[in-house]
Amino acid sequence: MGGSSPNVKTTMSSGRSFTSFNNPAPERSVYVREMFDRIARWYDFLNAALSLGVVYVWRARLLREAECPRGGSVVDLCTGTGKVLEGFLKRSGIASGVGIDLSPGMLRVAAEKARKEGNAGRLRYVNALAEKPPVRDGAFDRATIAFGLRNVRDVEQVFRAMAASVREGGKVIALELTLPRNSFLQGLYRRYLRALLPLVGGAVTGNRDAYDYLTETILAIPESGVIAGMMARAGLRNVRIIPLAFGSATLFIGEK
Ligand SMILES: C[S@@+](CC[C@H](N)C(=O)[O-])C[C@H]1O[C@@H](n2cnc3c(N)ncnc32)[C@H](O)[C@@H]1O
Repeated sequence: MGGSSPNVKTTMSSGRSFTSFNNPAPERSVYVREMFDRIARWYDFLNAALSLGVVYVWRARLLREAECPRGGSVVDLCTGTGKVLEGFLKRSGIASGVGIDLSPGMLRVAAEKARKEGNAGRLRYVNALAEKPPVRDGAFDRATIAFGLRNVRDVEQVFRAMAASVREGGKVIALELTLPRNSFLQGLYRRYLRALLPLVGGAVTGNRDAYDYLTETILAIPESGVIAGMMARAGLRNVRIIPLAFGSATLFIGEK
């Protein structure tokens, strides 16, 4: 395990550009926050529609692999509209969850849903960076991040924060979009990402930049072994890599 991650320069349709993976520049966070604020109201719908519902299957697998005890507690980084915590509440019967995100727009959607569904007492949403979640060390049974690693500024720091937030014996689980291992499938997928996704996503939302961003960050994701190496360096043991749908997404699981 180990190795370096690619340092790919991305230029969006709008002409803005940045480095796609593990980019420490503060303006990257500003860009990401503004983008998610803009699409927050549409996020759940578009996510389901453009993935043909597959993201739900992948999140369900995350919940299963997490094996969170009933009555347990979870901190979910890059929580967005709170889909992962909602799942933990329904499927695992957790007692409490804290969702962290840098986009106030995404958190507003999450908090509204929690209020409407009577879960506001158990799910709390906090506007903060995944690199520095304002939570107590060892306070949680599980720490999760779904489709967030591609967006953060310091991936290894995020894993260190996740490792710190769980108790001894707790688990850290990351779910991320990745590239299929099979070179034929990878070729097809690259073509879909470059040609179709920004076109369809852009046409539906009127926000082409967001889908250029999605494409470029998926293409810049390093091999799974590099991410697993970061987890190991963050102090996690027995790191496992579980490819989903021929590797178009991957679950990473480590223990404290
Ligand atoms: C693709 S969404 C994923 C949302 C959710 N986890 C899901 O499963 O649908 C990525 C989220 O990460 C958030 N984000 C990006 N960079 C972040 C950072 N450094 N700290 C906290 N949240 C961040 C964005 O605001 C956005 O809500």
